[in-house]
Amino acid sequence: MKKKYALAALGLAGIVALAGCGGGGAGSSGGSGAEGSGDKGDLLIGVSMPTQTSERWIADGNAVQDGLEEAGYQVDLQYAGDDIPTQGQQIDQMITKGADLLVIAAIDGTALSSQLDAAAAANIPVISYDRLIRDSEHVDFYVTFDNYKVGVQQATSLLTGLGVLDEDGKETGEKGPFNIELFAGSLDDNNAHFFWQGAMDTLQPFIDDGVLAVPSGQTDIEQAAILRWQQETAQKRMEDLLTSTYAGGTKLDGVLSPYDGLSRGIITALQGTGGLGPAIADGLPIVTGQDAEIGSVALIDQGVQFASIFKDTRKLAEQSVVVAQAILEGEEPEANDTETYDNGVKVVPSYLLQSDIVYKDNITPLLVDSGYWTQAEVDSGVAE
Ligand code: BGC
Repeated sequence: MKKKYALAALGLAGIVALAGCGGGGAGSSGGSGAEGSGDKGDLLIGVSMPTQTSERWIADGNAVQDGLEEAGYQVDLQYAGDDIPTQGQQIDQMITKGADLLVIAAIDGTALSSQLDAAAAANIPVISYDRLIRDSEHVDFYVTFDNYKVGVQQATSLLTGLGVLDEDGKETGEKGPFNIELFAGSLDDNNAHFFWQGAMDTLQPFIDDGVLAVPSGQTDIEQAAILRWQQETAQKRMEDLLTSTYAGGTKLDGVLSPYDGLSRGIITALQGTGGLGPAIADGLPIVTGQDAEIGSVALIDQGVQFASIFKDTRKLAEQSVVVAQAILEGEEPEANDTETYDNGVKVVPSYLLQSDIVYKDNITPLLVDSGYWTQAEVDSGVAE
């Protein structure tokens, strides 16, 4: 992380230096093609990220910026504070500044149509980053993870924690019944639906067989969804579930959570019962997650949160750089999926990366040995 931040600081210095040049680069990029064999330094790439409240997006933003700058491009990186109009304005400004390509991780995947129309009118290609931009034909490419599989992995980690599956993913014959509750992400994020679908396809057979039960009865994504993936909202919903469904002595065995921020809110709610709640008399339920955020990795290491999903944002950033470069050089970027991601108007050619389940016993090989987090960070739960 240190290295990342040091590079990010350099990047910032670069941008400041650039700003001092009075936007000459942006101006000249307007006629970029004419410059011929391409001094990449004249090309400006706008990178729009949703929020800095989650580590993963900071890591994504830094890694995309570093990668693009290393490849010789200028970068305008903006975070929108999870505010939809702010993201729209930031993208509008990138277009006005003469960006040559946009990399966008949308807050609300359906809210950027007018920006994408403007980008298309100015011949600016758009790469949808991690989250699919919907309802627009002007999405040139999508780089992401196999989001359905992420959902399968989340459910698999829950079933493993409950002892229904063994380490190899085989059914143990454990019949439960186990009581679980279900959380989903923000409904305006296309990914939330893929995670949910993958998870529910995996859990449903066990619900049908009576191995799993959802005592609240809240099994629709609309009931489980947490707007903008907010930790506090998840905490509140978990508190409400404990009051409405578990006050009378029903035990809660597991919680499907699709993102570490939500998981920490859920755990806070569960711990708030102070060990006196019958729901968690035997200890905390199995709680899943996603993103391998350092706070949650530390909780997994301590045996508080059970699992997370590691999506290596460095690889995603790298892939987005490869795609950006191909597009700007007039080549067709390599896709490995041309069927799955229909944005409502067209199927967007995609490059999908793979993810891994993080358990206590593979934190070291997966996250420390790969340099994603240091052992000290895992021990402290804080990014350095
Ligand atoms: C991303 C997840 C992330 C979530 C909340 C999703 O679109 O794919 O990795 O946990 O947003 O930020």
